[in-house]
Amino acid sequence: MTASPLLDVRDLTVAFGRRPPAVRGVSFTVAPGQRLGLIGESGSGKTVTSLAIMGLLPDYARVTGSIRLGDAELVGRSDRSMAEVRGDEITMIFQEPMTALDPTMRCGRQVAEVLRLHAGAEAGPARERVLAMLAEVGFDDPERVADSYPHQLSGGQRQRVVTAMALINSPDLVICDEPTTALDVTVQARVLQVLDRVLTLENAACLFITHDLAVVSQLCSDILVMLDGEIVEAGSTAEIFDAPQHPYTRGLVATARLDLVPPGGRLPTVDDFYTRPAEGAR
Ligand SMILES: Nc1ncnc2c1ncn2[C@@H]1O[C@H](COP(=O)(O)OP(=O)(O)O)[C@@H](O)[C@H]1O
Ligand SMILES: [Mg+2]
Repeated sequence: MTASPLLDVRDLTVAFGRRPPAVRGVSFTVAPGQRLGLIGESGSGKTVTSLAIMGLLPDYARVTGSIRLGDAELVGRSDRSMAEVRGDEITMIFQEPMTALDPTMRCGRQVAEVLRLHAGAEAGPARERVLAMLAEVGFDDPERVADSYPHQLSGGQRQRVVTAMALINSPDLVICDEPTTALDVTVQARVLQVLDRVLTLENAACLFITHDLAVVSQLCSDILVMLDGEIVEAGSTAEIFDAPQHPYTRGLVATARLDLVPPGGRLPTVDDFYTRPAEGAR
């Protein structure tokens, strides 16, 4: 018997105006503590999927299907009732940390605000919890970071502060939308390592969105492959790497695995493996 999922997305479709739906018939589940990667190229519908789960799509988006968090249906919930879910049971880390940070407020206070908002904690214990959380995301000098303004920190440090904000209320699920895409490779590795550690420490599940298969394989046990608004392949990370089924996935794996490139050969691109059907044929 498998445990009931934390998040159960069924037949999710999101359309804007008269354009073909940006997300079409997407179904997947996330188990408690599971790390699920959602991979696909730019424009494939990854962010729209995550915003649908967070209830952050604009009013003019038409959302059908079902998104269940535990026993609760999220599709059709009011903004107000979604606000209780956001930041408490589900939190999100975006690509650009400055979207989540207030440039005029010291970092420690910003992390404390998140804590107060949802846990109603007192000021004293909040400070201690904030410093402990900043240490958890890898800062040796949490006091200094707490007293810094965002602009006094590097991009990678800011993303770690945002990670502290996302995890301080012990959410069940953290949605990460390309959190390391804007960072240098070495900084990216550090942020991923920290994320990996705090997800385990806080016992949180993760939906990790990226266009980079190498990144997803470092963090996630399972992978969904999205193409033009649809899930075209799902499997464990090992299955996806060892036996990719869809031509698009084969292209992704080949480009992530340099050992498949013949000596002196050119790096394959996804286009070598997958040709899109003509616009009218879909
Ligand atoms: N608010 C919006 N209004 C209209 N179209 C949108 C909106 N947000 C996203 N889209 C469209 O939905 C598609 C999927 O976008 P997105 O989910 O952001 O892709 P990804 O995150 O995979 O790069 C794109 O064609 C995009 O232009
Ligand atoms: Mg996106």
